[in-house]
Amino acid sequence: MIGIIGAMAEEVALFRENMESTETSTHARMEYMTGSLKGQQIVLLQSGIGKVNATIATQIMIDKFDIERIIFTGLAGSLVPNLARGDVVVSNYVVQYDFDLTTFGRRHGELPDVGRMIEADPTLVKLTCFGFDSIFKYEKDSPQLVVGTIVSGDRFVSDERKIEWLQREFGAVAIEMEGAAVGYTCLVNEVPFVVLRTISDSASSNAKDEFESYLQQASNNSFKIVSSLLEAISHKAAAE
Ligand code: ADE
Repeated sequence: MIGIIGAMAEEVALFRENMESTETSTHARMEYMTGSLKGQQIVLLQSGIGKVNATIATQIMIDKFDIERIIFTGLAGSLVPNLARGDVVVSNYVVQYDFDLTTFGRRHGELPDVGRMIEADPTLVKLTCFGFDSIFKYEKDSPQLVVGTIVSGDRFVSDERKIEWLQREFGAVAIEMEGAAVGYTCLVNEVPFVVLRTISDSASSNAKDEFESYLQQASNNSFKIVSSLLEAISHKAAAE
């Protein structure tokens, strides 16, 4: 079974609407919905915002369901000038940028015994790119796809100085509030994962307005690409 998690109701709405044969169960106030989408058995969850919610959600998902891999989807702020609203970011690494043991000589984001960069599953990254290409390649006005580092922290960032720091410290391309918590939970449970985000805002002073006005459109984009990723996973399984 494939786990699909998004933080906000808008980010999972299209998945809910398009799933078939659904059943729900509630754990820790979160509603897990099982069913099928694009030929795959999935469990869908709206985790709520932030790293704590994402951690609880992911651990329960792994404990209660027969999870082979997890896809976290939703929106992100851009940290680089060439990534605009509607473009897509796929994690090759995720980092908890606000984890700070620098007082003890460690680097920002570095956890004892784990390190700082948590690697997403390379096969899922590749299949996500493949899914994206099968929708958008050769299309006029296609969004861009970038594979890169996504940083996560418990703050909505709307600050130019923070963007520069995040870019320089982590080589990050996008910021959000859950991916690295999911990545860490998957790492310690040995479950492959990927984070796929559509850019909703510039993480600068007008990020709030940008985010609110683009939430629906960006969620539609992410849904399309995750659906295509599920098809790519089905094709890969059929070819094996
Ligand atoms: N998710 C989408 N945009 C974001 C931002 N600017 N900061 C944190 N999380 C986000």
